[in-house]
Amino acid sequence: SAAEKDGHDWFMRKEIFEQPRAVADSLIGRRTTAGLLALDEMRLADEEIRDLDKIIIIACGTSFYAGMVAKYAIEHWTRTPVEVELASEFRYRDPIVDQTTLVVAISQSGETADTLQAIRHAKSQRARVLAICNTNGSSIPRESDAVIYTHAGPEIGVASTKGFLTQLVACYLLALYVAQVKGTRYGDEIDEIMVQLEAMPDHIATVLEQAESVYELARAHVGTRSVLFLGRHAGYPVALEGALKLKELAYLHAEGFAAGELKHGPIALIEDGLPVLCVVPPRGRDQLHGKMISGIQEVRARGALTICLAEEGDRKIEPYADHLIRLPQVPVLLQPLVAIVPLQLFACELATALGHDVDQPRNLAKSVTVE
Ligand code: G6P
Repeated sequence: SAAEKDGHDWFMRKEIFEQPRAVADSLIGRRTTAGLLALDEMRLADEEIRDLDKIIIIACGTSFYAGMVAKYAIEHWTRTPVEVELASEFRYRDPIVDQTTLVVAISQSGETADTLQAIRHAKSQRARVLAICNTNGSSIPRESDAVIYTHAGPEIGVASTKGFLTQLVACYLLALYVAQVKGTRYGDEIDEIMVQLEAMPDHIATVLEQAESVYELARAHVGTRSVLFLGRHAGYPVALEGALKLKELAYLHAEGFAAGELKHGPIALIEDGLPVLCVVPPRGRDQLHGKMISGIQEVRARGALTICLAEEGDRKIEPYADHLIRLPQVPVLLQPLVAIVPLQLFACELATALGHDVDQPRNLAKSVTVE
């Protein structure tokens, strides 16, 4: 009923709007009185964490894209090598795993069969296993050595939204925890990042205030057959997740690309009027921003219609954006938390305009318990 959905038409839309709260809840109680990070059920000794040689993240669907973002954060903050792998591929390729490997399984439901089988394989090779999960007492955390629970609350819509954002939060917390134990980042640096994370619920709320203009844009794309998404760095998994949302909900051909790869193939797809959604990185001291802008220039010169997500105050993007969606100014590693939100709104509204059932998309299940 409408009451269960807080007056929204879909659970998904309700869950998108719950994201500031879900992110805030997933951050509560993570700092001890001594200022150190503490995680829920961290049944891993500090010594085991110090001895880690590598981290392998395994997951499916949206959770896999959270894992891709996690790689950027974990490697940057902890200098520990990270691989990210689809759970369904992991155990069939004879992966190199031993007691110095931490396998991180990300699963909203905790019941995805591919992910469960992957952790069973990892354990048989003596790896340590940590679960990032939204469902208390589900199979994956039960079979893991450690758990970080996300506090998104129940997610009903088949397409994951608040599940994804809270997984990102858990991944950042894990990265900072490992950094703290390994000593690759110190107290005040960790504090500073925690303060930035604690500001994210307000930033997400600011993005949600633009929902009406994103909806209008989505409705203008009802006739579209194909949509491309471009991103770089932590924005690359956001592009992949934005495309997944459109496939799942609008049944549209949608693909995400790393912007640097354009010239190696995808640019051949560009034709007149093709919508290209571009996740523009913040203007940092590195060259990411400039490189992204030249990619956008390239596709626009070939007729693409560019819809750009760029931070407040970014003037350089203006000449190349047919439509501009503003994001709050946040560090590049945390930008996925705000950048995915307009893409969720876009997919939800476009699917609604097409007359599809947003909460129960055809052929999909909330949790896939068969391999
Ligand atoms: C299914 C759902 C997706 C979800 C994926 C992984 O395919 O439709 O929305 O991302 O499973 O689910 P999990 O519960 O393991 O995160």
